[in-house]
Amino acid sequence: MKFSVRPATVKDLEDIALLCRDLCVLEAGSFDPTVNPDWPLSESGRRYLSNRIESDDACTFVAVSQGKIFGYIIGAVTREEYKTIPAYGELVSIFVREQCRMSGAGRALFNAFAGWCRKRGISRFRTIASLANKAGMEFYKNMGFREWEYILEGDF
Ligand SMILES: CC(C)(COP(=O)(O)OP(=O)(O)OC[C@H]1O[C@@H](n2cnc3c(N)ncnc32)[C@H](O)[C@@H]1OP(=O)(O)O)[C@@H](O)C(=O)NCCC(=O)NCCS
Repeated sequence: MKFSVRPATVKDLEDIALLCRDLCVLEAGSFDPTVNPDWPLSESGRRYLSNRIESDDACTFVAVSQGKIFGYIIGAVTREEYKTIPAYGELVSIFVREQCRMSGAGRALFNAFAGWCRKRGISRFRTIASLANKAGMEFYKNMGFREWEYILEGDF
């Protein structure tokens, strides 16, 4: 499959919101019922995504084939003052349409995010992912992520 990766613009917002909705539907249905699949297309979801596209402290790249966006990645700079790492490149969200997977698009999107981080002198990357998402975990390990911390949740 021939494709290219480019930075997103606000004109891509609707396509990204639809892909993000599909990601949330997948997450909610298969891995984490606390994910709200309606959020990406809501007013606040669209506002959040549009901020990610426009903010200097975040990046959004899209994968395009035959003029159609079929994947995206969102990254952001995050900081933890109590840690010695000055800044993290946080992989906020990545999604590639099912029929376009395993063709290198995920890696190309990750590489674009990595380049964006390196330009800012950021060498440490991280993400939060559902442990149950085995395919996602395989992808992340291939990109160089390793398990570091656990997020623990409970119900009162
Ligand atoms: C995770 C995801 C973005 C990967 O996209 P992709 O375009 O299929 O990834 P690539 O084809 O670039 O694969 C990159 C590497 O990861 C590996 N990989 C990707 N998916 C894999 C899977 N399901 N099982 C095993 N390895 C996998 C590939 O073999 C490849 O390794 P290589 O470069 O050493 O050959 C895509 O599967 C997806 O959108 N999944 C649903 C959303 C999701 O889970 N997002 C992440 C958690 S929020």
